[in-house]
Amino acid sequence: MIKVLHISSECYPAAKAGGMGDVVGALPKYLPAHNVEASVIIPMYRTKWIVNADLRRIYIGDMKLGTEDIDFTIYEYKNRDIKYPFYFVDIPGKFDRADIYLDTDGHGYKDEPERNVCFQRAVCQWVTYSNHHFDILHCHDHMTGLIPFMIQRCFEFESISTLPCFFTIHNGQYRGLFEWDRVGPLLPEYNTEHSGLLDWDNKINSLATAIKCAWAVNTVSPTYMEEIVRDSDTLTPLYNSVREKLHGIINGVDNDQWNPAYDNFLNTNLVKEDWVSFKRDNKEELCEKYGLKKELPLIGFIGRFAHQKGADLLKYAIEQCLNSGLQFSTMILGTGDKEIESDLIQLRDTYTENVAIEVDYNEKLARLIYAATDFLIMPSRFEPCGLNQLFAMRYGSVPVVTAVGGLCDTVPDVRSDGNGILIPYARVDDIVTGISRSVDLYKDTKRYIKLRDKVTAMDFSWNNSAKQYVELYQKFLNQ
Ligand code: GLC
Repeated sequence: MIKVLHISSECYPAAKAGGMGDVVGALPKYLPAHNVEASVIIPMYRTKWIVNADLRRIYIGDMKLGTEDIDFTIYEYKNRDIKYPFYFVDIPGKFDRADIYLDTDGHGYKDEPERNVCFQRAVCQWVTYSNHHFDILHCHDHMTGLIPFMIQRCFEFESISTLPCFFTIHNGQYRGLFEWDRVGPLLPEYNTEHSGLLDWDNKINSLATAIKCAWAVNTVSPTYMEEIVRDSDTLTPLYNSVREKLHGIINGVDNDQWNPAYDNFLNTNLVKEDWVSFKRDNKEELCEKYGLKKELPLIGFIGRFAHQKGADLLKYAIEQCLNSGLQFSTMILGTGDKEIESDLIQLRDTYTENVAIEVDYNEKLARLIYAATDFLIMPSRFEPCGLNQLFAMRYGSVPVVTAVGGLCDTVPDVRSDGNGILIPYARVDDIVTGISRSVDLYKDTKRYIKLRDKVTAMDFSWNNSAKQYVELYQKFLNQ
């Protein structure tokens, strides 16, 4: 068995802020079938899940972080409900906080640079000096981007300097930028002639460092890979210079977690593939709860109220559609930008019969929305993979998405024999067209049901993608 250690700042169900948490929580389950044993290590936050977890101490370490003396402990999760070895790095004073990234004022923690370096150093130290052996390190996003550099160049980790490092980009917009003055002195000692590997535009750039030092880099869909190579502002030349080690591997769905037949969050489950009753009953439940008309096509939106997700455009597009007399209902669930939130609430207050909104991060309601809606809209400006369109299809909701990144790879338009509706650009007019196409399609019941049947029969499980990761791991080990 090849042994791979996934190093991440999130892993569902212990700690999740976004899709990366889902991916890191699921992929390791699907690797053993391909002869890879995957483990996961994350910081020991004080999320509810972690506080209640049964843990065993397996390693104690220390480091000098600038002028600070840091003691840390590695714990292993003891229960069998998580199907892979799961480790936590406890660093008191740095990670013993309930939220993963955000302080109580809603902004990022002010000591983010110190926390970040400290976690990465602790993992490298454990891998170097404990009796746990790994064949490959697999890092996720900029929060772990300095690790490939550290193990290859820092004297402290010399004995593992040839360990293959793999790097996955879940979102290339976030870079982990640090001032040299502040973070330079926190790094373990290395020959400064290599400091160029850490630098991009006179800052330490964690993402750029990983792109330079990792043996292979992948993004979570082939199209997103092409997009970032084409345009990543100042990083474009860097991506172009390492093209031969870039790959695009689409994410999958964890079919155990996302199964309409067994989903405990739902009051009505799918029985004997009877999609008609499943959709009808869930739709009735949601419409009753929010005062929406169940005869109308129901379009859902689930996601962060953020520019990336195109959430700011929704209000204008929905308003335009309803004013022009289109008959449909919308259910919106999310949190984020306050301005977008108040725009959407205002929309609901103007069109109470057609628009419902819940400002929340709510797993149970999200599941009901996937199960109840006829369409799920994702007007993202960019989307490295996107998981919600995959969840939607699994629960019989037809995706209506912009033609970007992973959305484009997983939802070809029904006009080209695909499985959803493509919106060419994240622009109000295009979204309006997307919504009116959805409403038209729904009126043609036979066509709509045929498409829904096609969507629910699709397979987006991890098996295929896990195999692609394994092929790359094997390539490393043969080198
Ligand atoms: C990030 C991306 C999203 C992707 C997820 C998991 O959240 O924005 O598109 O699906 O990571 O890789």
